[in-house]
Amino acid sequence: MLKPIELSKGVYWVGAVDWNVRDFHGYTTNRGSTYNAYLVKSDKTALVDTVKAGFFPEMVSRIEAIMDPGEIDYLIVNHVEMDHSGALPLFMERFPRVRLVATDNGIKALQRHYRKEWAIEKVKTGAEISLGDKTLLFLEAYMLHWPDSMFTYLKEDHILLPNDGFGQHYASYNRFDDENPLETVMDEAAKYFANILMPLAPLIPPLLKKVIKLGIPIDMIAPSHGVIWRSHPNKIIQAYMDWSNGVAQDRVLIIYDTMWGSTEKMARSISEGISTAGVENKLLSLRNNHRSDILKEILTSKILVVGSPTLNEGMFPSVAELLFYLKGLRPLKKKGVAFGSYGWGGEAVPAITEAMKGMGFEIIDPGLGVAYVPGPEDVEQCVALGRKIAASL
Ligand code: FEO
Repeated sequence: MLKPIELSKGVYWVGAVDWNVRDFHGYTTNRGSTYNAYLVKSDKTALVDTVKAGFFPEMVSRIEAIMDPGEIDYLIVNHVEMDHSGALPLFMERFPRVRLVATDNGIKALQRHYRKEWAIEKVKTGAEISLGDKTLLFLEAYMLHWPDSMFTYLKEDHILLPNDGFGQHYASYNRFDDENPLETVMDEAAKYFANILMPLAPLIPPLLKKVIKLGIPIDMIAPSHGVIWRSHPNKIIQAYMDWSNGVAQDRVLIIYDTMWGSTEKMARSISEGISTAGVENKLLSLRNNHRSDILKEILTSKILVVGSPTLNEGMFPSVAELLFYLKGLRPLKKKGVAFGSYGWGGEAVPAITEAMKGMGFEIIDPGLGVAYVPGPEDVEQCVALGRKIAASL
């Protein structure tokens, strides 16, 4: 089994690698995930977060390679969601000497999750716990992404433990960013942000500014999922600032579903128009791509082009599902266009356009509907629409 990994003297990764998880509460985790728990050891010792319940033995065996887990003084609860606190009740049962530490909202959430009469120390932003020659500084991170969320900062080691923040669902035995393909890690970080943090984006720049104002140097960011940012902490901080401000690439994303191939034919023709204008674009069918993967593409594209056949006087259910999901994630600064084939009603295109307007999209064109099967003149219209979309960048 993978040994504990030392981040700096006395600070260890003691979490678990979940190679085979492919569905994380409805989010596809094609590359698995990790649940990162950290042991901070000085005269006293703190465990920061735990792991998903089933990985409790794995975490305990890693701690045992360093010390007796029964001697741990503090268990810091940065976040109560069960991928991080699932093993906590097992830990409390087996090692009851440990003292729990959480925010006020964390205490309430722990009580609602586990219904135990644990004594829990409440901490607020700025509170510190000294372990000897190491100090834990706490920073509440309300709604990033739960009310209980908290960052823990190791003052002497300059390590930030922000729990879900800056995380990625990415399983690897290589625990550091520089030991993994950076492009892949950034890709998973973007997908994580798009699906988990995007609706809370307005809260992120103020929190990061608050951290900067504290004047605390950050040499390493050790999140609770994926790799530890040892060589590129500034790269992921900058990416978070950009994503939070709706910064995207000059890229068009075309998403569609189709019944008899007509809407797909339109999608390909629109793509051709965009491509001939020299603009990067991607064409993704909802039949073959999961919404959580599509969200990452939406995050990084300036323009979203959505195609749907008209079915029962409305849009296709898969398109409605995507737009419903997207609405909750509150995308910023997007432009959009709708298209689709129909038999007699043609309600899908205006319905998609209205949905986009409702999300604050800038509508590039009223949208294009084609009756039944696109003919050569319809294909020309689609290509022209593609050119218009490209020109709007
Ligand atoms: Fe990784 Fe919000 O739990």
